[in-house]
Amino acid sequence: MSVYSVREELKPSGLNGISDEQINDHWNLYVGYVNNVNALNNQLADMRGNGEGGTAAYTDRRRRFGFEYDGMVLHEYYFGNLKAGVDMNHDGPFGALVAESFGSVDAWAEDFKTCGKSRGIGWTITYYDPVTGQVNNHFIQHHEEGHISGFIPLVVMDCWEHAWMVDHGAGGRGAYIDAVVDNLNWGLIDERTKAAQEGKVLNRF
Ligand SMILES: [Fe+2]
Repeated sequence: MSVYSVREELKPSGLNGISDEQINDHWNLYVGYVNNVNALNNQLADMRGNGEGGTAAYTDRRRRFGFEYDGMVLHEYYFGNLKAGVDMNHDGPFGALVAESFGSVDAWAEDFKTCGKSRGIGWTITYYDPVTGQVNNHFIQHHEEGHISGFIPLVVMDCWEHAWMVDHGAGGRGAYIDAVVDNLNWGLIDERTKAAQEGKVLNRF
């Protein structure tokens, strides 16, 4: 039942302001989430097989789903939306969309960065509401607290300290966030936006 694998094709390199050493260190944590998701699913299957599906122990292990699954999935969105040397197309689908909701791309970026500086560990996600077509920046605590059901992630930024400690130290959150925005994979973000607007399933790899 180990159905998830590490998506090597998503690993970025040569970024401006985020070293390969930092990415490698961070990548190892992502690998841990993939392994933990598979292990947790196997463990729960074994427990069900042993007639332990109704036990408190099973319930406690199942509560771990949100942390482990989101830890895996969000890192795939995050690493995937980083790429060296990509300039933003302000007139592309994402640029046009955030200009509608925020007034301009720059205003979206400013709010995205501010969201990323929310105190505490978590994630900053530009979420698309498929019903209204609006976008907003959401701060997700840990990996799993604060997601909006059915909303579609367009831009995902890791805001746990492990994401910048190698390069910038504990006080380097702002420098890291600037680097993330400088290295966004705008082509992919435009693809995500277009798919979301067309009601297609969003592929994360
Ligand atoms: Fe992370």
